Amino acid sequence: MREWIVAGNWKMHNTVAESIALAKAIKEGSTAIKNGEVIVAPTFTALFSVGEAIKGSKVLLAAQDMYYEDKGAFTGEISPGMLKDVGCTYVIIGHSERRKYFHEQNNDVNLKVKKALFAGLKPIMCVGETDEEREKGVTQDVVGRQIKEGLNGVEKIEDVVIAYEPVWAIGTGKVATPAQAQEVHAFIRGILKNLYGGSTADDVRILYGGSVTKDNIGDLIAMADIDGALVGGASLKADGFLGIINNISGKK
Ligand code: PGA
Repeated sequence: MREWIVAGNWKMHNTVAESIALAKAIKEGSTAIKNGEVIVAPTFTALFSVGEAIKGSKVLLAAQDMYYEDKGAFTGEISPGMLKDVGCTYVIIGHSERRKYFHEQNNDVNLKVKKALFAGLKPIMCVGETDEEREKGVTQDVVGRQIKEGLNGVEKIEDVVIAYEPVWAIGTGKVATPAQAQEVHAFIRGILKNLYGGSTADDVRILYGGSVTKDNIGDLIAMADIDGALVGGASLKADGFLGIINNISGKK
């Protein structure tokens, strides 16, 4: 039985004070929720304070990225040990904005995923095709490569969360239809079955991301292989984020 996840990716938003306020509102709003996992991913500068604010609650802390070395002369980078030190359980890896603006390749994603696992962090590995790739009919080629190359040499797949985020749906208000999303989620689970065997693959959570709101999550979460959501814009207001959680909780 897979436990659902709702993860909020706050991207490059919020001061420390704003992040604490948002985290506290999410913590208070999710006290009654019994199952599932609620995750927030603030900016690096707010991780420690948010970690303190959510201590002892159901809400778990994630970082938005990390580097794949332990320490050293890597100006501007953050190590997995540093993320653990401030209370992170999860780390988002290979988000499409990292791939697009910071030129991350599948190989970088793979190094980060392996390093995160080795350090005891759970990676949320993001994959997804662009508009152009979907139009060309190569969605499965692209996503298949991202999955296989991203997971190359990864053994502890049960500690990995996959997020399928079609690039054309991120921040655009153009959400994938439940059928479109389910098709790719089932395809991803098929690859995991080939790589890791059926029962292991059945335990891996695959999240959908891209313009998720409290109004469209109900239909998405009804799909067999959609186990939750990675939320950007709608995670920046407690009401919207809690609305998504409430529309999943009890349905999966
Ligand atoms: P969005 O972002 O919900 O604003 O589309 C999702 C994401 O980038 O993870």
